[in-house]
Amino acid sequence: MKNFVLILDFGSQYTKLIARRVRELNIYCEIHPYNISEKKIKELNPAAIILSGGPSSVYDKDAPMIDKNVFSMNIPILGICYGLQLIAYLLGGKIGSTKKREFGFAKLNILKKSPIFKDLKEGEQVWMSHGDEVVKLPEGFSSIGATANTPNTVIENKNLKIYGVQFHPEVAHTTKGKIFLKNFLYDIARIKPDWTMESFVEKSVKELKEKIGDEKVLLGLSGGVDSAVAAVLLYKAVGKNLIPVFVDTGLLRKKEGEELISEFKKLNIKVYPVKSSKIFFQRLKGITSPEKKRKIIGKTFIDIFYKKAKDFKSIRFFAQGTTYPDVIESSSVKGPSAVIKSHHNVGGLPKKLKMELVEPLRELFKDEVREVGKILGLDEWFIKRHPFPGPGLAVRIPGEITKTNVRKLQEADFIIREEVKKAGIYDELWQAFGVLLPIKSVGVMGDKRTYENVCAVRMVVSSDGMTANWYKAPHELLQKISTRIVNEVRGINRVVYDITAKPPGTIEWE
Ligand code: XMP
Repeated sequence: MKNFVLILDFGSQYTKLIARRVRELNIYCEIHPYNISEKKIKELNPAAIILSGGPSSVYDKDAPMIDKNVFSMNIPILGICYGLQLIAYLLGGKIGSTKKREFGFAKLNILKKSPIFKDLKEGEQVWMSHGDEVVKLPEGFSSIGATANTPNTVIENKNLKIYGVQFHPEVAHTTKGKIFLKNFLYDIARIKPDWTMESFVEKSVKELKEKIGDEKVLLGLSGGVDSAVAAVLLYKAVGKNLIPVFVDTGLLRKKEGEELISEFKKLNIKVYPVKSSKIFFQRLKGITSPEKKRKIIGKTFIDIFYKKAKDFKSIRFFAQGTTYPDVIESSSVKGPSAVIKSHHNVGGLPKKLKMELVEPLRELFKDEVREVGKILGLDEWFIKRHPFPGPGLAVRIPGEITKTNVRKLQEADFIIREEVKKAGIYDELWQAFGVLLPIKSVGVMGDKRTYENVCAVRMVVSSDGMTANWYKAPHELLQKISTRIVNEVRGINRVVYDITAKPPGTIEWE
């Protein structure tokens, strides 16, 4: 049995949060779709399984199901919300629709002592979100916890080590949810918490050494955190056989390229810069469709790489800074869903490169990536930089990309970040940036009429970029940003603040 937790995803918006909580408890876990085969589960050989919640009802025509055999594999199981209902339904219990749909806070009453309630008190605050509930327990199960409206809120089969819970222990609103999960993982499933970033670095370096040996690895530095951390990790494993190529697209933030190169210099890692803004601007000329821009930029990146790779003899591996959220979002894991933006790194390896793909951060969440970077000596300010989209400023300039527009945005964006840092809120924000709007408005400066571009300021808070809220920025900060941009950036005479959450908006404008 491997020391890891398998999370089966039934479509809950909180599945990723379950994974985050398990990792925070220093246990490695992976999310897989609910319908992976029994054979695959056996292969994965998890020490415990968590069944996520989901929007379905077990009696729906196409309700997602799992093979009943999973319950006799002798693996401890925790079902959350829909997961609980599925356990009850498949093992012979009954589900009914709740008289009063229950969304929000509730108090948990402990009906029976159980190891799952260790360190929890009577009346803990829990978060409910369901329309169905268990109305008849399957044989061998007892109800050990209830809320005022839901008698079978926590169910237990002690012998089989199968538990079900109607509330969501993974959300922050369930105050002691992490303790509940910890009890299941440490005490019931008896999993050893051995997942730390130090152990990850040690294990990865060893594996990368074995995989790569004396071969060369080409890696694309985008300027962002993920590819930089992938590079330092690979450098620790293969030293000078790592060839980090930095494609300067001309679409980066002000000073970003220089900062990257000097950071690597400090770590004695040689970077191979390729100044390529000319070709990017040429190919983007006249293009206004967001998806076309992304495709052109992606393809140009690869073309430049392909050309650069030819400078070196026989490179066998190609490394990417793909992270776990990219993997989860990729269609192979999540199943078909609408393409909102084609921005994922997964599977970006062009066939013609004829190289083998190495993705050393594939298992990690963003904060884990940052921790690895810190362990490997990257500076704190560098690791804590806000995420930046692969296509760069091109997706922050609706309409055509020109050198002048990029210059305007770089200047404005620099001011925004500088003021946000000065205000001491940089680390609180997921992102803070400017968007150069393709419209002009009339202004007056020094008694003269101006007719220039508008800059939208976007500041968002988020835990993972999947959902986000606009930041309630102090008016003084907004005023400083606005005054400075209009005074200092030639070509911008108006500043507006974006107050759209995601959903329904997205974080980037394109
Ligand atoms: P959206 O705009 O989809 O952005 O709400 C969510 C997060 O993803 C980042 N983003 C990208 N990252 N390549 C990337 O590597 C892209 O094409 C891309 N587009 C958006 C965005 O900055 C935000 O943090």
